[in-house]
Amino acid sequence: MKLAVILLVAQLVLNTAAEQAYEVSNEQLESFEGESETLVFFDNLKTIGRERAINGSFSFAGDMDNDDFKVSVELYSSPQGDGDFKRMVFDVPQTSICECFKKFYVQFVQPSVNDGETTNFPLVDDNTCPIPQGEFYIKNVQFKTEDWPEQVPRGVVKAIITFFTGDKNVGGLIVLVKIEDRQS
Ligand SMILES: *[C@@H]1O[C@H](CO)[C@@H](O)[C@H](O)[C@H]1NC(C)=O
Repeated sequence: MKLAVILLVAQLVLNTAAEQAYEVSNEQLESFEGESETLVFFDNLKTIGRERAINGSFSFAGDMDNDDFKVSVELYSSPQGDGDFKRMVFDVPQTSICECFKKFYVQFVQPSVNDGETTNFPLVDDNTCPIPQGEFYIKNVQFKTEDWPEQVPRGVVKAIITFFTGDKNVGGLIVLVKIEDRQS
């Protein structure tokens, strides 16, 4: 009996440590084309089902090396979820592509897809570069937030992820997620 109680308490403590105080759900995905050419394609990604899981495929037209490719992430928040977006202070300016994947893909996306079945995109680690050419699938992904920051704004957050080569936009992706207090 005592042991059962201890195990239960231990489990509660562990769960609390791993769980954020908020829940994230996908709202919308939208791809956009580049200025004069498009080298990254997200138009086959969709949200499916009641859970709006992310499903489909994306592709990169060629290998993208750290010297020639950059990525920026602009973040906007709509606290009421009414489409009135304000730019957030936290943004990622144009950053060399491999650095960007190592920092942000690894923190925000990879934990949700690293079970070996959800995507065939290679695991990103410190040695990953260039970002490889290819078409990659994503199966039914909902974001796992254990590595996300503790402090995130509630409401709808919009991330505009833009890929560049030279100073030219070569396409990207707009992701909207809804962030709510976790219901206990
Ligand atoms: C999910 O994506 C795969 C391609 O990766 C596709 O074959 C499948 O039809 C998609 N499922 C739905 C329900 O759209």
